[in-house]
Amino acid sequence: MPKTAFTNFSKEDNKLMKHIGEAPVVIKLLEGTQGLGVMLAETEKAAKSVIEAFESLKTRVILQEFIKEAGGADIRAFIVNGKVVGAMKRQGKEGEFRSNLHRGGEANIIKLSPAERSTALNAAKSMGLAIAGVDMLQSQRGPMVLEVNSSPGLEGIEKATGVDIAGKIIEYIEQSVAKKSLPKDKIKA
Ligand SMILES: Nc1ncnc2c1ncn2[C@@H]1O[C@H](COP(=O)(O)OP(=O)(O)OP(=O)(O)O)[C@@H](O)[C@H]1O
Ligand SMILES: [Mg+2]
Repeated sequence: MPKTAFTNFSKEDNKLMKHIGEAPVVIKLLEGTQGLGVMLAETEKAAKSVIEAFESLKTRVILQEFIKEAGGADIRAFIVNGKVVGAMKRQGKEGEFRSNLHRGGEANIIKLSPAERSTALNAAKSMGLAIAGVDMLQSQRGPMVLEVNSSPGLEGIEKATGVDIAGKIIEYIEQSVAKKSLPKDKIKA
């Protein structure tokens, strides 16, 4: 993961900033989605004033190291039953650091590097998820996990990859149900 810190109204903004390193810093609302509530503070001063503003509203935020070299893009790996069944790269529109499709980003199929594949699989495994959407940034230090989604959407990834991911999920469910079903002689008529 990129270096990350949570605020807790401790007024220790300097300590938080030290943990992250230097500006620019990404500030996220704990409950944002579709890129809304994800901000980029270009300077330490800007970061501190944004943190103060949210503290005064009693809203907790996440501070995160800005991965500049990700270039406004992220990767979504879709995992079903311990396998990556599809992956896409989402590129934000020109001048936008957020790659969300809802913010005007574009998605394209991508072949994951071995490191990206194993990072995504490990992330899903450590969350105990058979089905997951793992979002990663491509950084100079290798793939970094941004988020693990337990109910990832299908539309964007199916369109970008051309893979019938819903079909793969149904197959997995059918196999799991078949494995768990009782032997015929134990089923009551
Ligand atoms: N630390 C970071 N460094 C560089 N870019 C980032 C960083 N964090 C987020 N981004 C960019 O901003 C986008 C939105 O951030 P994130 O996925 O964390 O929030 P969200 O999309 O609003 O939440 P959710 O994925 O739960 O809907 C990412 O897809 C990525 O392109
Ligand atoms: Mg996201």
